[in-house]
Amino acid sequence: MEAIKRQALATFRNHTGFEENLAILVSLMNKLTSKDVNLDHRLLDNPEGNVWAPVTYVGIQDNEHFTISMFILRRGSQLPLHDHPLMHGICKVVHGKVRMRNFSLIGDPLSSLKDGTVKVTREGDRVVAYNDPAVVLSPTKGNIHEISAVDGPAAFVDILAPPYSSLIVGYGPRPCHYFLELDCEVKVYE
Ligand SMILES: [Fe+2]
Repeated sequence: MEAIKRQALATFRNHTGFEENLAILVSLMNKLTSKDVNLDHRLLDNPEGNVWAPVTYVGIQDNEHFTISMFILRRGSQLPLHDHPLMHGICKVVHGKVRMRNFSLIGDPLSSLKDGTVKVTREGDRVVAYNDPAVVLSPTKGNIHEISAVDGPAAFVDILAPPYSSLIVGYGPRPCHYFLELDCEVKVYE
């Protein structure tokens, strides 16, 4: 995990050598396991029925350049369709498996967000397991997604850059939007 934190800083703090640094970071993330993030397996099960929240968030590192966090999805739970405005993302499943439904943006992402409806292309559904490589999203490609636990609980680690807490130059705050799917468009709902 320490090597990933160092490489994330090298990748997202400097813009020189970005593609090369990103490739190294993805290769490190491909090897990440639940042991590396000290996943507490007691958080995976929900023996008391609906007593626990469906999703647990664990912050790992947060700075002005990127965030690293872990999401633990209980059996049958999901993160609804959401975006990562003008952000890069690397998502590594470290326990169980998830179904990812990814969409890519068509056109200028900021102007369409202002309109309230975003035109997208569907990247297709795929099941990603703990022993699969990390999934990479760019400011446009695969940037909107829904993630659901499949066949039991699941956990994944996300690196996102820049953080949601940072400003978009010339635009303002960078909130996470949630979407309602409409045929070939997805509509922002707030
Ligand atoms: Fe996400």
